[in-house]
Amino acid sequence: MSKIKVVLVGCGGMSGAWLNVAKNMPEVDIVGLVDIVEDNAKRKVKDFDLKDAIIGTDMKTVLDKTNPDVIFNCTIPEAHYQVTMEGLRYGCHVFSEKPLADSMEHAQEMVETAEKVGKIFAVIQNRRYDPNIRRLRNFLESGKIGKITTVNSDFYIGAHFGGFRDHMKHVLLLDMAIHTLDAARFITASDPVSVYCKEWNPYGSWYDHDASAVAIYEMTNNIVYTYRGSWCAEGLNTTWESEWRIIGDKGSVKWDGGGNMQAQIVVETGGFFSKLENVEIPPFDAGDKVGGHSGLIKEFIRCVQTGEIPETNGKDNIKSLAMVFSAIESAGTGKLVKL
Ligand SMILES: NC(=O)c1ccc[n+]([C@@H]2O[C@H](COP(=O)([O-])OP(=O)(O)OC[C@H]3O[C@@H](n4cnc5c(N)ncnc54)[C@H](O)[C@@H]3O)[C@@H](O)[C@H]2O)c1
Repeated sequence: MSKIKVVLVGCGGMSGAWLNVAKNMPEVDIVGLVDIVEDNAKRKVKDFDLKDAIIGTDMKTVLDKTNPDVIFNCTIPEAHYQVTMEGLRYGCHVFSEKPLADSMEHAQEMVETAEKVGKIFAVIQNRRYDPNIRRLRNFLESGKIGKITTVNSDFYIGAHFGGFRDHMKHVLLLDMAIHTLDAARFITASDPVSVYCKEWNPYGSWYDHDASAVAIYEMTNNIVYTYRGSWCAEGLNTTWESEWRIIGDKGSVKWDGGGNMQAQIVVETGGFFSKLENVEIPPFDAGDKVGGHSGLIKEFIRCVQTGEIPETNGKDNIKSLAMVFSAIESAGTGKLVKL
């Protein structure tokens, strides 16, 4: 098969993770690098020994010079719409960093445009491509805890980023909660129905805008999911994957977001407390659905070659983004929002 020609747009911090994967994929040729700050593109050329790549500050000029098959969109969230739309309209498949877009209107237009031009548009949701979450989901699918009724997740991290996040509105919900909310859809195999959310910027926050939120979602399959999170919580941090409790009608599972998972199921009822038993959560081989960015980028390139649809395609991932924007709307209006 011929090499897939890729132009990467947005050569900041995160682009290194993409280029690290791409440099070990013989089927990928990074033919161009674009950044509005030319020095950022030059730095990546040096760091990744990409001396044959065309670099520039204007995306259209680099596309004309390279005629790529694929755009990797690693720009900041506010630029995702413009870069993705330009790539799709040019006739490229687009793989973008999360979040899909900076508004639902933009997201809808991006997904519709991808369909119209017949190109793949997908979003990195690297926390889905994690062996632990795959193992958890496999266990839940086994039915050992019965039908899922309730899911809680806690995300508490004191992250001093500097840069665009310090000044971004809805920074927690838009830039981070998208991972957790997407994980909630994956874990429950359900989609959002409604949400009530409170968002705020706690005393002592080093962010300009709200960095904490609590949201209650009603999901399909009669599941209630609560999200609690903060990006300015000092001490006793959770993992980046959040801490989870999943309750079924026959038992519960706790997951710390890392390698620790435990489950208890009912073995006898009738007393004040049911008799419970710890059960093993078996190891699970998730095949190539692991590896974070690496797993997702490999899947995307394979899909470009074969015409398959990636798991995190825009049409599906827009449902995770809708969880973000409906929470933001609820926080703004103080009302329950139906999706
Ligand atoms: N998946 C993850 O775990 C994860 C982790 C961190 C960041 N991200 C996401 O990655 C994206 C980039 O984040 P980052 O931390 O690398 O940010 P960053 O600020 O370090 O880099 C962004 C780069 O994009 C460039 N840029 C901005 N607008 C542009 C435009 N219109 N055209 C070309 N270049 C443009 C900037 O000059 C900068 O070099 C964001 O969407 C962020 O949410 C994802």
